Amino acid sequence: MKRRSLLLGALALACSGLALADNPIVIKFSHVVALDTPKGKAAEQFKKLAEERTKGRVKVEVYPNSQLYKDKEELEALQLGAVQMLAPSLAKFGPLGVKEFEVFDLPYIFDNYAELHKVTQGPIGASLLGKLDSKGIKGLAFWDNGFKQFSANKPLKKPEDFKGLKMRIQSSKVLDAEMRTLGANPQVMAFSEVYQALQTGVVDGTENPASNFFTQKMHEVQKFMTLTDHGYLGYAVIVNKKFWDTLPGDVRTALEGAMKDATKYANDIAKSENDGDIDNIKKSGKTQVLTLTADEKKALKRALTPVHKQMESRIGKELIDAIYKETGFNANE
Ligand code: LMR
Repeated sequence: MKRRSLLLGALALACSGLALADNPIVIKFSHVVALDTPKGKAAEQFKKLAEERTKGRVKVEVYPNSQLYKDKEELEALQLGAVQMLAPSLAKFGPLGVKEFEVFDLPYIFDNYAELHKVTQGPIGASLLGKLDSKGIKGLAFWDNGFKQFSANKPLKKPEDFKGLKMRIQSSKVLDAEMRTLGANPQVMAFSEVYQALQTGVVDGTENPASNFFTQKMHEVQKFMTLTDHGYLGYAVIVNKKFWDTLPGDVRTALEGAMKDATKYANDIAKSENDGDIDNIKKSGKTQVLTLTADEKKALKRALTPVHKQMESRIGKELIDAIYKETGFNANE
């Protein structure tokens, strides 16, 4: 009797193995940017690697461009299990109660990708991803986009140029403080609504890496963009924890490998994608692209770094200090 039930069990398992190929595990991966961006391309790369390496047992359905959900909704959808994977900007985790991610929004905290990677690819990054566990979310990786530029219908070179401008921001209190420090009025708005808001004058300007400006055509409705590189915008790739924890072990291992390689791909292309889109924006002739002199850069940095101190109580002084130590941050440079 016992033997027969074991045999039946083995048969059922074999059948479920067969059924898996016909009836794959589906990962719905929703994001808000265009396909032709660092995140859009990396999501496609993850899909390709995940499907190849699980031999079709996993199917990744990527939904770009806010097709399925907008910023705030996508995080709710992930927690409810309506989608399994997202890669929101690090500036969008505050409303979830994970304020520490806003450390990445501090103006000028990273001078370049190498400094940033000391944090995202090291122990600080791992501990930050761990903070998502209690929200029913598993953090898998950090993907780069790049350094942000400012835009408006007037040239923005000096801190006083921002006075009174309505500037669209992501839902981060650090970005709110950044804009207020410059005398601007920050307006939180979903990414999918920014183009129209700029076009109709609901907001006067915004900030984003060049890849987001170009692929959303925001530069077509802004007369000036200044290359300030004043802050970083990147992503945490996250999954519904319950979904992830209940995956068959071999599938999870294959997906972890696919994510590791997709992350390398994402971070390898991010800089050249953004550099290419600065060129594309210049070539379009729709926006005048401005650069700052060394003195202008210094003045903007001096105006914005007090935001670090101001945000200590929200983000945690210890975390900010740990990042300074890792990157050698110097406010006076
Ligand atoms: C934004 O809302 O400006 C960005 O977070 C969009 C993105 O995902 O890059």
